[in-house]
Amino acid sequence: MQAAMDMAIVGRTRARLASAASSIAGIVRARPKDGSASDFILRFCTDVLHLESLHFGMWQEHHEPTLAGLREAQKDYTSFLIARIPAGVRSILDSGCGTGELSERLIDADYAVTAIAPDTYLSKIVRRKMRGRGTFVSTKFEEFATSERFDLIVMSESCQYLSRHLAFPKARELLAEGGHLLVSDYFRKRPTNYYGTVWVESRFLENAAKSGFDVVSCDDITQAALPTLDLGHRFHTEIFLPTIELVRDLAVAFCPPLVTKAVTFAFRKQLALLTEFLYVKQFEQFDSRRFAEHVAYKVLLLRKA
Ligand SMILES: C[S@@+](CC[C@H](N)C(=O)[O-])C[C@H]1O[C@@H](n2cnc3c(N)ncnc32)[C@H](O)[C@@H]1O
Repeated sequence: MQAAMDMAIVGRTRARLASAASSIAGIVRARPKDGSASDFILRFCTDVLHLESLHFGMWQEHHEPTLAGLREAQKDYTSFLIARIPAGVRSILDSGCGTGELSERLIDADYAVTAIAPDTYLSKIVRRKMRGRGTFVSTKFEEFATSERFDLIVMSESCQYLSRHLAFPKARELLAEGGHLLVSDYFRKRPTNYYGTVWVESRFLENAAKSGFDVVSCDDITQAALPTLDLGHRFHTEIFLPTIELVRDLAVAFCPPLVTKAVTFAFRKQLALLTEFLYVKQFEQFDSRRFAEHVAYKVLLLRKA
């Protein structure tokens, strides 16, 4: 009897160790080679918030300031983008397609769609949405190789990730004669450090003109995008940070004090960066008043001259 109980204990312990080992292996495997903070934010949006889209959305008076309201605002934004597509367009390249929500809506509206994005973790979701009715290629825009020439390229909050030198020449290469480039994104009004990784609008327009693109239309939707930042601020303060702090406290409670001290010392630089990101940078980014002062959200339709 005792032997049987011992065997059961050994079995359970082995199972626990195997499960812990596989969790650690999972952490190691999940570690991206060139992962940035924005990759993790995108994953948070899909895996935790279960959002269908990864953009700010377009808020209207009747939308509740909740996650459900954000989902509605995102649907309305997608409809707004689709309404900007000029007549006669048939083939569309959705560059930086995220979860594939826009691609799916474009396919439903009878466009021939090719979707691209470099993130492999999103590819399953995109393929499921497309249901074989379009093409998905896991690649960066700058490296996308095809003999196809598109009537329109759409970049919904993805232009900001592209190489400043390659974005327009590559768009020219991939567009048919007289094709259109629909860019919806937020731009810095001046070359400041705030949202320092996004294009300065005047430079973007200069680059577009130099590469032979004419501006057909420009809509400023900044005001309609701001509630997403206020919601983000609330989520960050009320859910995200308390969860992180809980996990931290749990880890500390389970680790011998010496191990905690050693780990904290060994990773002090990384922890300082993480703390700055979570407690300073994120709050700056969610500050809707500051955003409106320095940044403008534009939907620009350009035409290859
Ligand atoms: C903020 S998400 C927007 C996703 C989607 N377009 C939307 O509106 O929901 C940015 C997208 O750009 C993609 N991206 C990042 N770098 C890229 C690159 N070099 N070429 C193409 N897409 C890129 C990301 O993988 C992600 O899918």
